[in-house]
Order: sequence, then C-alpha cells, then structure tokens
Amino acid sequence: MSARLEEYAGRTAIVTGAGSGIGAALARALDAAGASVACADLDEAAAKSTAAGLSDRASAFGVDVTDAGGVQELVDAVVADAGRLDLMFNNAGITFLGETEDLTLEQWNAIIDVNIRGVVHGVHAAYPVMIRQGWGHIVNTASAAGLMAAGLMTSYVTTKHAVVGLSLALRTEAAGHGVGVTAICPAAVDTPILDKGEIGRFRGRDYYLKGQGVRRPVDPDHLARVALTAVAANRPLVVEPVQARAAWRLGRFSPGLMNRMATRFIDQQRAQAKPDR
Ligand SMILES: NC(=O)c1ccc[n+]([C@@H]2O[C@H](COP(=O)([O-])OP(=O)(O)OC[C@H]3O[C@@H](n4cnc5c(N)ncnc54)[C@H](O)[C@@H]3O)[C@@H](O)[C@H]2O)c1
Repeated sequence: MSARLEEYAGRTAIVTGAGSGIGAALARALDAAGASVACADLDEAAAKSTAAGLSDRASAFGVDVTDAGGVQELVDAVVADAGRLDLMFNNAGITFLGETEDLTLEQWNAIIDVNIRGVVHGVHAAYPVMIRQGWGHIVNTASAAGLMAAGLMTSYVTTKHAVVGLSLALRTEAAGHGVGVTAICPAAVDTPILDKGEIGRFRGRDYYLKGQGVRRPVDPDHLARVALTAVAANRPLVVEPVQARAAWRLGRFSPGLMNRMATRFIDQQRAQAKPDR
C-alpha cells in the first residue's frame, strides 16, 4: 500500500452510491486501506452486497440522496456510532444520454435532484460536523463532463458543472476550518451507468464511447486508488485518465476548437442514431 493510502487507516467514511460502480470501488479501496466505510445506496440490497465484501468494520444503509432528512439521519447515525466523520463521498449519480428535446421535465428534475441536490444534502449534513471537528474531507464525484461540455449529455453536463463549481467554491471556504474538498472528474469509467439513461434515438455506450475516441473505459478500482491518493494529498480535482486531462487542457487553451470538435461529434452521433422518427 502506498504511503498516501496508509493515511486512511482508522478513518470513518460515508460513500453514497456505494452499491455499484465507482462508489463500490471507493468503498473497497477505503476498506483495504483500513477505513470504516458506511456504504449507502438507494438500492439497499446493493449497499449490503458491497459491505458484505468488505471487512467487518463496514456497514450498509438504504438512503435516497434526494431525501435531505435521510442523508442527515445517515450522517447522524455514523457520527453517533464512530464519534467522528472523516470523509464524506457524495458519489451517487444518474445520467441521461440523448437529444435534449427528448428529455421530459421529470427527467430534468430527476437528474438535478440526484446529481446536484444529492451532493448539496451530503454537504449540508457532513460539513458542519467537520467544521466542529476541525478536520474532514468532502469528496464529490463530478465528471470530466463537469469540466467540458459534451453534447447529448446536456442535462448531465449541467449537473456536473454545478458539482465542480460547488466543490471548488466550498474548498476555498472550508480550508480555513481544516476541511478539504475534492471533485473527482473522470471520463468514461467501466460501470453500469454507461448502459443506463439512454433516451430517444440515441444508441448508447458503444457509439458514444467510440465517437469520443474512448477505446477502454477507466477501471473503477484504478480510479478509486488514484482518487484516494489525490484526496490524501488534498488536491482540488482528480481528472482521469490522461486523455481527459489533455482534452481539458485543449478546451481551456482553445475553447473555439473544442466547441467545433464537439459539434462534429454530435453530427457523427446523429448520423448513427436509430432511424425511428
Ligand atoms: N461511469 C462513468 O463513466 C462516470 C464518469 C464520470 C462520473 N461518473 C459519476 O460517478 C458516480 C457514480 O457513477 P457510476 O458510474 O458508479 O454509476 P452506477 O450506476 O454504477 O452507480 C451509481 C449508484 O448510485 C445509486 N443511486 C442512484 N440514485 C441514487 C439516489 N437517489 N440515492 C442514493 N443512491 C443512488 C445507484 O443505485 C447505483 O448503485 C456518478 O455521480 C456518476 O455521474 C461516472
């Protein structure tokens, strides 16, 4: 184990969305480093299944992050049990992939509720605890889509830009309290989310990933280890993999070029869409 990961031994962490994908990988990496992990998920059985694969320090909670009261109860329960909360991973998220005109208002509200309000609820419940302690770290799973504007994911991009903004702004306030804030911003990661949220004529993950030049999505366990190392070093952002960092730099250096490339990508995706309208 790297020296950085050893810093997690004896820490208490909450991970939302821990029943699957990146959240489950974060829970595994934290547990392997010696932390006590509260695995929370809307899907309680999935949270239990993640916790069952960890040490007996781990626990499981059925929690909907869109329910502020439920998130508060989760934080209160963990603090009552452990006497502290060192790490709050606001990770639960959903996505919709497709044309914006095909999104219903209910879908817009759902993605705002989970991806933005879910993070707000986690911050609202955990941050005061960490201020009182004088230490702690809030880790919000945003996305590379929070740093760049990838079309056909407009609702997702909207929410993830909000999470990056929240994280970077809060970080400047939180530092004076001894509290760190980090946003995890990966490009495509190999999790079930890539197969969810397909709407309208959009053909899904393979076309989308190929169109973006992604040959192999990032392994979630690799991402979790990279993220924990970056959090231990109190980095503001974790951008993975290297191609995402390069694209992010290109977008800042030449927003016009990036926008033209993104527009061409949308044209390609539309040319491959299902011919059903
Ligand atoms: N996989 C990727 O390519 C990728 C890339 C960048 C960012 N992300 C972000 O990573 C995070 C985790 O995504 P993932 O890829 O592991 O997806 P996933 O679908 O594998 O896991 C998401 C988990 O969140 C849970 N969840 C959904 N709504 C919830 C709610 N209201 N309350 C509590 N839990 C809820 C689901 O039950 C699921 O277990 C998300 O915020 C996602 O936007 C994913």
